[in-house]
Amino acid sequence: MAAFRRHVCIRERLGASFGKVVPLLSSQPNSIDTSALVSFVDLNPATEDFRTAVIDGLSNPQKELPCKFFYDERGSQIFDQICDLEEYYPTRTEISILEDRLGEIAELVGRGAHLVELGSGASIKIRTLLNALPDLAQYTAIDISRDFLLQSASTLAEDYPDLDVAAICADYTTDFEIPAAIKRRSSGTVAFFPGSTIGNFTQEEAELFLRRLASILGTGSGLLIGVDLKKDAAVLRAAYNDAKGVTAAFNMNLLSRINNELGADFDLESFYHDAVYVDSLGRVEMRLISKKKQTVSVGETTFAFDENEYIHTENSHKFSVDEFRQICEMAGFTPIASWTDKNSLFSVHYLTVG
Ligand code: AVI
Repeated sequence: MAAFRRHVCIRERLGASFGKVVPLLSSQPNSIDTSALVSFVDLNPATEDFRTAVIDGLSNPQKELPCKFFYDERGSQIFDQICDLEEYYPTRTEISILEDRLGEIAELVGRGAHLVELGSGASIKIRTLLNALPDLAQYTAIDISRDFLLQSASTLAEDYPDLDVAAICADYTTDFEIPAAIKRRSSGTVAFFPGSTIGNFTQEEAELFLRRLASILGTGSGLLIGVDLKKDAAVLRAAYNDAKGVTAAFNMNLLSRINNELGADFDLESFYHDAVYVDSLGRVEMRLISKKKQTVSVGETTFAFDENEYIHTENSHKFSVDEFRQICEMAGFTPIASWTDKNSLFSVHYLTVG
């Protein structure tokens, strides 16, 4: 499959010591100035049909919707607000662990490495690392959202003029690879996968993803990954049921999206958000619960809801440090270091392939 994907290298920086200058192609968006990037590769990630996913998910005996559809423009904005909430400890705790361990991380990453961020988004956390890793050969941002990726990678390249910054538009959960055009003159590759996004996979998906990542990165490569920890269920419940209702708005936005984009008639007043910690499965489940018996149409298809019946919209798995290291070992990684904050809320791990 990968061989058939279109690789588009839109630009190589003038005067760089490698490669020749490739003229800009028409695929480059006019509004985004990408001139500071050394290269951009578009793996043309297949965008799963939203309508098909919604109809399929709502047709299951346990109605469900894939959490990746949270992140339209409004959903992404609400998610940024979640990260700043008092109750939502993961973001600030992960950043504090990274800041506390920068020296050790720099030692492990080593000089002249190629840092690859999976799901780079707004490329904010990476700045903490980049400031502490002055000897990096290259930083490559990977994200499925093409314009957002180009915008944030370009801004980063402008802010770090001595760093070679590249971007790959890809769905790292399915079709991720590092094309030869991107790999340059580094002494080794280190992937950065922050935010405990690994927890949004099922256990099987997480292991499969890590196994695939190990083979893509290659023996000796590194992985720096943020993972949320098991803890008092009350802390988890508060983190996913915040007092201001921001997480509720994030969850409900999925129904607004379905109404707006698929011509559905969800009555938003007839559903409410809840997040519960399911101890036996070690995960927070986000749910949208029907307040009454009702029917909802998505285009031509109608779905019946009983009172209190819910749509399962997200899993957020929590791990112990040992549980997570074991999963990594099964997937072909060797744990090198694991750090937590003083309250054992969150963990950051450094692992190598092989
Ligand atoms: C992106 N992901 C790791 C977040 C989480 O905590 O599972 C998404 C989120 N859902 C509700 N709040 C935050």
